[in-house]
Amino acid sequence: MHILNVVGARPNLMKMAPLVAEMARHADFQQTLLHTGQHYDDQMSQVFFDELGIPQPDIYLGVGSSSHARQTAQVMTAFEEVLLAHPPDLVIVVGDVNSTLACAVAAAKLNVPLAHVEAGLRSFDRAMPEEINRLVTDALADLLFTTSRDANENLVSEGIPAEKIHFVGNVMIDTLTQQRARAEGLGTPQQMGLVPGGYALLTLHRPSNVDDVSIFSGILDALTAIQKELPVLFPAHPRTRRQMQAFGFQARLEAAPNLRIVEPLSYLRNLDLMMHARLVLTDSGGLQEETTILGIPCLTIRENTERPVTISEGTNTLVGSDPQRIVAETRRILTGKAKTGRIPELWDGRAAQRIVNVIRTYNTKDTKENL
Ligand code: UD1
Repeated sequence: MHILNVVGARPNLMKMAPLVAEMARHADFQQTLLHTGQHYDDQMSQVFFDELGIPQPDIYLGVGSSSHARQTAQVMTAFEEVLLAHPPDLVIVVGDVNSTLACAVAAAKLNVPLAHVEAGLRSFDRAMPEEINRLVTDALADLLFTTSRDANENLVSEGIPAEKIHFVGNVMIDTLTQQRARAEGLGTPQQMGLVPGGYALLTLHRPSNVDDVSIFSGILDALTAIQKELPVLFPAHPRTRRQMQAFGFQARLEAAPNLRIVEPLSYLRNLDLMMHARLVLTDSGGLQEETTILGIPCLTIRENTERPVTISEGTNTLVGSDPQRIVAETRRILTGKAKTGRIPELWDGRAAQRIVNVIRTYNTKDTKENL
């Protein structure tokens, strides 16, 4: 079976790594790895290949950054050529970035079977670009692999046949489980002058937070207050850095010396810093899940989440972008009132194994003919 695996942006890489490794254990798979080039800086892409032992991509589309429509169109155009030249038996896309959507559409139009890993997540907020990507990708996929039971319910309620949906657990947690011991020994907090258990880790890059000057300014007010009580380490995404410059936040950042802005971190460094943090402040999807597994309190700077299991079972709390709420919830944690959670069902490090088992028994021809 020839499988065409697609990655494009940073959060795809820790999801694809265990799938590539698991398929490599079976002689009946021939794999091609394609990178769209949506993320291209070494620290947003190559460093994850190196650390996670992902083989170098066989095909690199090099699309780079653009507007949503342009970037999506460029991936679709280039990906269609790849599909026409060497039609695979199955395309696997992961997550919810623009590359996921673009490759899903191109594959579906050519009637190439499509698997979506991390299907069914819904924030029910269509102002979020990822929500559009999730809805379209799931509508087109032939195999939908979910991380939680609520995702199955979302898909069924959208009319997706139950036999296409497979609740398999969380591949990102497979990677975390495999890499945890390696990360823990690195001593990253100490090397960065931080005391384990004595700092907050912050990530922020959602357009809803960093593209609106008054919202971003309010979040910065909250961070300015928090850094007086606890050092905050802030590996800044390139778009966030750009926005801080555009909004003229320089003087305010200088007046907050314990808010330390650094370059984006590698997977292992980030994991090491997360597992030793007092709390994590974030608007990332992945960090909400990773902190749940690590048992680290997470405050999510968003009004909603497509990952409700991290709230109902994990350590996550939604705090929105209201500065007072962000500070108040941080103080709750600092005064020992942090949420404790449990590990969600099937987040056990074996999701890739389950996915590969399903794919091996999937008869692509039959399924396509029956659609
Ligand atoms: C994308 C995903 C988002 C994911 C995030 C993780 C979409 C719609 N969004 O958002 O779901 O959480 O990746 O990082 O797909 N840039 C660089 N170097 C790079 C890549 C990007 O400098 O290697 C800068 C460029 O200025 C670019 C901007 O970041 O315009 C945004 O990049 P883009 O891939 O469009 O979206 P992200 O914000 O990274």
